[in-house]
Amino acid sequence: MQFFSRNSRVSPEEFETIEQAITPYGEHLKTVVEKGGYSKTESSLCLPSDEKLLRLSEEAVNVKSSPALRYIFVVGIGGSDLGTKAVYDAIFGYYDGIEPHRFPKIIFLETADATHLHRMQGGLSLSELNPKEFVVVIVSKSGTTTETIANSEVLIHFLKGRESELLHRIVVITELDSILWKAAEAQGITTLPIPKTVGGRYSVFSPVGVFPLMMCGIDVHDLLEGARDMREQCLKPQHKENPALASAAVLFTYYEQGLVVHDSFFFHPALESLGKWYRQLVGESLGKENIKKSPVGILPTVSLGSTDLHSVGQLYFGGPKRSVTTFISVINEPATAIPTSRLFPELEPRLANKRMNDVLLATLKGTKLAYQNHGLPFLETELSAVNARELGKYLMWKMMEVMFLAQLLEVNAFDQPNVEAYKKETRAILDFHE
Ligand code: PA5
Repeated sequence: MQFFSRNSRVSPEEFETIEQAITPYGEHLKTVVEKGGYSKTESSLCLPSDEKLLRLSEEAVNVKSSPALRYIFVVGIGGSDLGTKAVYDAIFGYYDGIEPHRFPKIIFLETADATHLHRMQGGLSLSELNPKEFVVVIVSKSGTTTETIANSEVLIHFLKGRESELLHRIVVITELDSILWKAAEAQGITTLPIPKTVGGRYSVFSPVGVFPLMMCGIDVHDLLEGARDMREQCLKPQHKENPALASAAVLFTYYEQGLVVHDSFFFHPALESLGKWYRQLVGESLGKENIKKSPVGILPTVSLGSTDLHSVGQLYFGGPKRSVTTFISVINEPATAIPTSRLFPELEPRLANKRMNDVLLATLKGTKLAYQNHGLPFLETELSAVNARELGKYLMWKMMEVMFLAQLLEVNAFDQPNVEAYKKETRAILDFHE
């Protein structure tokens, strides 16, 4: 993975000032990683080297694996499933509709979606599945999230019929000793822990992401290795060697100039969920009151090239200039050629001897030039390929970028004081209708 800030309008002096401001925090992160363990709010950085925790997931995978496995139902919301979904969709999930015979597939149950549950019950003939054909993974750090509990109950009800066997097909991933942990243990259900200091949006390298991704055959060792490599880079003091520091410095400088929107523009549709994972990370980590009690935050948006140029391109070029963009592209793609013998050779003759990826890359280049001509600032990232290693790097880069940004914006990156507001009201409404 390579990150370029060459088109940013941040001066060397501005970079230096930010580097100096971040240095003590960078030192702190280094100590957190060197010491290991989970005593600090930043301890999620230790996850990629936690072999003990990895072994727990591996053991559970060994027990639950089966050649007959077809469906891994991941029940969770927000930080409890967005990281898993980001990696799964990039590698497999985006293609699930066109690869109907590839198994196992992960099916995510997030919000309270009655139609999806109803259609899934019939569509997958849930009551007829053999227990070896599925695993249910319930993920909730708190163990109390209403949507997750509701989805788990409905799914398990649909699957039952072989009750005693069913309990062996469930894995609960939650904080050690949460109310959910205790309830699962009481029924003999397999449990995997989320360390106390690791918040949902920073938990992808814990059993939250590791267990289901390993279950579906993704190379989690590569994912974690990519994360470790990137972590090492992002602990370096100079922005030129440290992509998280560089991107945080650029985004912060633009934010101070009034550019409050950061658009992640993926020129690869399978990466959309990666953008949505980052959207939550930025939204929950940075959108809040700072230590001076002023509300701050960067609005994270996700665009897909070239699709969204045909939807919001007009707005980006012609509308108010309030955003900074990161273009994300992939270098190694299959060499799918546009045939030389064509049905409509008189249309778009410039497609002669081109491959599909040439078309996409031409669109990307064209878009960057148009951004330049319109004075729209942007950054660039290239993944060498869509694989577990590169995704591990990307996820770690972004988590560390957000930690640095939180320092610059003077907010706590690890709490979400206002999310509780909707949860409280929801519970009150559900109580009222009892
Ligand atoms: O990142 C976070 O902390 C949140 O998005 C949570 O993951 C989300 O609210 C779900 O909470 P829980 O994992 O407790 O069910």
